[in-house]
Formats: sequence, structure tokens, C-alpha cells
Amino acid sequence: MIKRFKDKNSGEVFHISTKNTSYLFRVLPTGHLEHLYYGKKVNADADTVNCFMERRSFVSGNSVTVSEDRYTSKNNNDISTKNGAGEGKTEISLDDICLEYSTRGMGDFREPMIEYLPEGESSGYTADFIFDSARLIDGNEAGSLPCSYGADGYLLITLREPVDHTTLVLHYAVYESCDVITKRAVFWNSGKKTVMLNRLLSNQLDLDNSYYDKNICFTSFNGAWTREMAKHTTMLNGGTISNKSTTGSSSNFANPFVMVHPENTGEDAGEVYGFNLVYSGNHAEILQVTPYHKLRFLSGINPDFPLARLESGESFEAPEAVLCYSTDGFNGLSRGMHEFVRNHVIRGKWKAKDRPVLLNSWEAVYFKLTEARLLKLAKKAADCGIELFVMDDGWFGNRNDDRSSLGDWQVNKKKLPGGLEGLSAKIHGLGMKFGIWVEPEMVNTDSRLYKKHPDWVLQIPDREQAEGRNQRLLDLSKPEVREYLFDEMSRVFTEGSVDYVKWDYNRNYSDFPVFCDAGKPHGIAGLPARVSKPHACITGLYELMEKLTQKFPKILFEGCAAGGNRFDLGMLSYFPQIWASDDTDPVMRADIQNGYSYGYPQSCYTGHVSASPNHQTLRNTSLKTRFDVAAFTLMGYELNLADMSDAELGKVKEQVGLYKKYRHTLQFGQLHRIRHDNVTQWIIVSEDKKTAVALHLLELAHANDRSCKIVLKGLDPETKYHFYAREQSVDVRVFGDLINTMAPIHIRQGSVMHDVVAKYVKVKIVPENLYAYGDALMNAGVKLNSSYAATGLDENTRLALDFSSEMYFAEG
Ligand code: DGJ
Repeated sequence: MIKRFKDKNSGEVFHISTKNTSYLFRVLPTGHLEHLYYGKKVNADADTVNCFMERRSFVSGNSVTVSEDRYTSKNNNDISTKNGAGEGKTEISLDDICLEYSTRGMGDFREPMIEYLPEGESSGYTADFIFDSARLIDGNEAGSLPCSYGADGYLLITLREPVDHTTLVLHYAVYESCDVITKRAVFWNSGKKTVMLNRLLSNQLDLDNSYYDKNICFTSFNGAWTREMAKHTTMLNGGTISNKSTTGSSSNFANPFVMVHPENTGEDAGEVYGFNLVYSGNHAEILQVTPYHKLRFLSGINPDFPLARLESGESFEAPEAVLCYSTDGFNGLSRGMHEFVRNHVIRGKWKAKDRPVLLNSWEAVYFKLTEARLLKLAKKAADCGIELFVMDDGWFGNRNDDRSSLGDWQVNKKKLPGGLEGLSAKIHGLGMKFGIWVEPEMVNTDSRLYKKHPDWVLQIPDREQAEGRNQRLLDLSKPEVREYLFDEMSRVFTEGSVDYVKWDYNRNYSDFPVFCDAGKPHGIAGLPARVSKPHACITGLYELMEKLTQKFPKILFEGCAAGGNRFDLGMLSYFPQIWASDDTDPVMRADIQNGYSYGYPQSCYTGHVSASPNHQTLRNTSLKTRFDVAAFTLMGYELNLADMSDAELGKVKEQVGLYKKYRHTLQFGQLHRIRHDNVTQWIIVSEDKKTAVALHLLELAHANDRSCKIVLKGLDPETKYHFYAREQSVDVRVFGDLINTMAPIHIRQGSVMHDVVAKYVKVKIVPENLYAYGDALMNAGVKLNSSYAATGLDENTRLALDFSSEMYFAEG
């Protein structure tokens, strides 16, 4: 809900509230917007709003001041009235006020939200935006960048610069049940002079000194290829910290989702602010602790690169920023963020639809794909109940390794003699959907496309191009490039009767001009003529994705960027799911998935059961562990089923059946993190709270560490649940030569005899099986069976081996 009222002195106040949070700001007599409060939901009205105002009776020492009546005559604010704070004063210092936006040159020396330079010899960065008007509208005001949808309220604030005559419009959207508020800013050069726009952040949040004697923690999710989303928390008592991407994409180095919180916030208790951005390019999240113990948080397009040169009448739109606040710790914040992403970011036919179990050919055959090999795999997959067959890289041009053919999207007839149509028909004939891999934004120099259009790549003239994975980036700011890709992709998707597309992106930006060529309109809606090249490429990509997803609404698109190098809400506005990481090792995946889970629901990230030893870490893990961890994502397989034994295939079939049975809960239920140390425990609870599936994953076994419990979360306290795990038949070889403590004859470990015995003798494990109320499961928890500790192996012993896991079910 958004309420607008006047304080006792006729100053406008805006109160945005969600189910559990309030966000308040007001118009100061100077015409600036003072941020008053963002936190737990509160009451506020004309009589009581004074409580939120900062008492400012003097301006300290060497501060630069702004006179309260500076623009009085222009905007008719009667500042002689009493505003309850700084009553009777004529000066304020913007450096120590919580502001909704900030500029340079007016005495606020913190990081500014906006910076521009009008053309002219003596021009400076000084700018001073003054409140002009506010408008409440129904529904969202869509911009030209991807935005959330379905808001419960929408507010637009217009501010004007009295000297340059430029305009700043602040947008606020409210999503009540998710406790989310989104903000974005549009700068309009409504003046006469051309201006150079250096920065326009999307969101500024200034918080007062309630954190004064606490350590402020800035938690970001950083990583690299195959180890995305590692959680890092840095304490800050003064100065500035930032989380930035300069790679051209949102990047695996610094995901745009970050959190700000006091030191003692835990998974289920304590305050936390969460922030994200609906954008896929270079971004920055900046946290500053001021000498006055205030906090400033800024997020938006990375301000290290200039944005645009705006002629009179042109505007620049910053992407949408997402804000969420919770007093229920990180899990509380995740609940809000997950609901927001599920219901207000992801769109299209697949938004709430169960996603198919797939088999991807990449780690099964890599580039060595042929129709015969693929069909062999596909038949096994169909027998196991797998629903979608995805042909990954290697099907086009002369693509036998990563050095050639990107850009030439013609099928390789030597590998697939029947073309895409032929293969697709055969896959469909097996009762499966057919999916394909593409990497449209790239070109190899060894390709027909590059030979024909060497000028289509991102490059700086006269400078030798840097390569990345032997490929270059196509310049998506060019309309002819976007047209080519739209036509080519449309042809491929149609020819192959494609049901699913994996859209990959495997290198970072290197050589790019700062701006797009002057005077060459790129035709992207909403962009000014001379604009930042990386930003134009991202908006060009959005235009292409928009057109393709509109043309092929039934296709399930999955984003990918060498794993999670472009995992963000911009991509999720078009593609409902993203390949989380090229790392398929379940132990590393537990870290990666744990990281994603803070800001993103598991219904948008995918995970595959792959071979053991794992191709990224060479770690050996059981098929069970690989499945158990992948089941907490949109699950698929990515290994050579054709090389598996019948027994293993039988297990895969069982896993697929189990996943399908709990699929809706696993994909769309609410995930809660229970713990993540040597043991990872997560639980996903269905919307009606009748079904829950939990994971218990052990990294390294410790001797004689017998007791362990799982304390569930998110259940209905009054419901009686059946809590259980499935019975297991364990291979005797797991126990090595301990077999001789029981065997009547001596069996040499690793001998043929050992294998023969293993074929017929299994160790049966009967795990936990009990009934309990939700409140007991969530408070007392369940004490799990004792784990094997050199003695005491019986049916009820828990096998807590290195990298072992269990899946627990609670059904009410
Ligand atoms: C990187 C992706 O992340 C992998 O899954 C695979 O599709 C390769 N690219 C193919 O080149």
C-alpha cells in the first residue's frame, strides 16, 4: 500500500508499506527528499510522523550548507512553517541527512546516485533536484528495460533541476506479500544543453544511525567459473565497500544479489536488508558508512563507465532495483525474495509449470556427438522415464572443438545426416521432448559468419582483439546483428521442432568502445542515440530475447553462461531457469546451491546428476548423493547412460520416479536452509505444508561422531507428520575388508570373490520412521539414528560416509 499525506507543516510524506515492512520519506522544505525509515512495519500519520524525523538543531563544523529557502520562491514551499526538526533554522547540511537520491556539489560528499556534466567550458557536476510532483498509479509503469510486474501499488516522483532544467523521475513499486519494494530512476535531459551522464544508480537507501554500535555486515556472493555464489561477509565500521562487475555481464565474480545486516543476524532471526537488480550487465552495489554513522547503500549500473551523452529531449533509464527487509533472518529474507522472483519476475507459460527431467549430452559425449550416439543415449533416457533430451554443443558447422563454427547455425550433416528435423522426429518418437544448445551472441573467427561480417564483433579499431574460449562477442547494439540472430534462431527452433533451448554465453567482454558510434541510431527502444556500448549490447540482447520468447512461447528457455556467469533477474525476466554452474560435483554444488538459495528460488536454477569421478573435481561420490543434491534444483542428468550397468540404470529410473513424485514440492515449495557446515541440511515445504523433503549431506566423516539431528523448518505446527527416509541396500564393498569380520571364509578385498559376494549380498539399512507434530519437528527436531562408529553395525545404523547423503520426507 502507498499512502501519501501531509505532515503538520504541510510537507508531503510518503508511506510505502508491505505485509511486514514500512518505507517512509518526505519532502524537505528545501525540496529534497529525506528518507525517514525503512524497516519493520509501523504506523504513521500526520499527527505522528514527527517521530521519524531527525532532530537537526545545528550544522557541524566545516559542513557545506544549503539554505532552506534557496528555492522557496520557485516551488512555493513555505519554509517559515515549523517542520518539527531544525525548527527555525535556515540551513541544513545534506552530508548528514538520509536522502532518497543524491547529487554532487550541494554539500553531500558521499557517493552520489546521479552525476552528469552539462556541455560548456565552465560547467560542473553540481546538480540539485527539487521535488516537483508525485503520482500514484494502478499497475506498473513499464520501462524499456525488463521490469517486475503485478505491483500492488506504484508511485512516481518527479524532481526538477532548477538551473539545468533536467528532470529526475523516481519510480517505486510495492509487492505486499513478498515484503518487496522496487525502485528505479529515469533521467531526462529536459534542458537545452547536451549533457554527459556519468552515473545514474537505480536505488539509494540511506539509513540512520540505529546501527551505531553494531558492526555492519555486507554479504555478497562472489566466485568464478565452477565455483559461483560463495558467500562472503565483510564487516564495515567506516569507509566504503563495493561489489562490482566489469565483465559485461552480471558475472560469476559478483552476483548483484547482496545483503546488509548486523553481525548477529542468523538464518532465522535478526534484521537483514536484501538487494537485487533486474539487470544483466556491469553493475555495482556500494555500501558506505559515513563519519556520522549513517549508512548509504547504492545499486545500479556500474558507475565506473559513463552511460550516455544526452541531447536535449533524450532520456536514460536505470534498471529496476529490488529491496526486501526481514526481521526473520536470512531465511525470512529468502522467503520474500523467492516469492517475488517466482511471481513477479519470471513470466510465460513455464512460470508455474513443473519442469521436465532432462538428459543433457554435454558431459556424456562432449563434442563427439553423432546421431547414433545421441539416439543410444536417448533410448536409455526414455527407459528411465526422462522426459526431455537436450543436444548440447557440437551439432553445427565444423564444431568438433571450441575453436570453430560459432555463428554458423547450419546442422553438421556428417554428424546428423537427417538434420535437426530427423533427429527431433526420432526423439519425439521416443516420447521425449527435444532440446537444443545455442550460443547466439558469439562468433569464432573460424566461421563463415566472421569471414562475411568481421565488423559485427565488439572491437576497438586498430587494436588487436583479445580472445576468450577462442571466440568473440557479436555486437548486439547493431540492428543487423540482432536481425541475423533472430532469423537464424527462428529457423533453427522451427526446423528442429524444438521444445527447449539452452542459451549459452561463454566469454567476458574485453575490447569495447565506451560509447556506440555517434549518429548511428541503433534502434533499441528507450535508448538515447549515443550510449554506453556495453549497456546497448545488453539492451539489444533483451530486445532479441523478448522477440524470440514472444515468437516461441511454448519453448522452455534455459539461460547459461559457462554456468552462472550471467545469473540475474534480467535474464530471469525472459528465461525461467538458468544453469547454475558447470560444476556438477555434488559437494561443491551444495555450496553453490546454498549461495543461490539466499536470493533465488530453486525453481530457477538447474542441477544435473553427472558421472563419478566428477569431471570438474575428479571426486568419487555415490549416485545417491549426486541425485539427492541435484533433486534440490530443477533436476536432470548429464552422463553417459549408455555406459551404465542395468543395476545403475534401475537406480536412475527409481530416482526419476521419486523426483517426479515430489517434483512440484521440490521445484516450487519454499526452501529453508537449516545448516551448512560439514553438514548441509535444507528443507523444501509445499505451499499447503502437507509435504516436505529435506536433505542431509555430510562432507567428511568424523570418527565416533554418532549423534546428529535435523530440526525441520516451515512446517505447520499443528499437523501430525510421518517423518521417514527410504530403506537402503548398501553394497558390501563399502565396508572393504571388514567383510571378513562376518564372512565364513576369507575374502580378499577387490578380488573377484568380493565382487561376486557384492552382487548377492547387500547390507540393509532401515532408517528413521516416526510420527510427530510439526511443532515437535521444528523445535525438538529428530535425533537421527546413530552413525557407524567402528562398532555397532545393524539395520538401524546410519552410514555417515564421506560425501554421503539422505533425503528425509515429512508428510502430513
Ligand atoms: C558451457 C556450458 O556451461 C556447458 O554446460 C556446455 O554447454 C558448454 N558450454 C558447451 O560448450
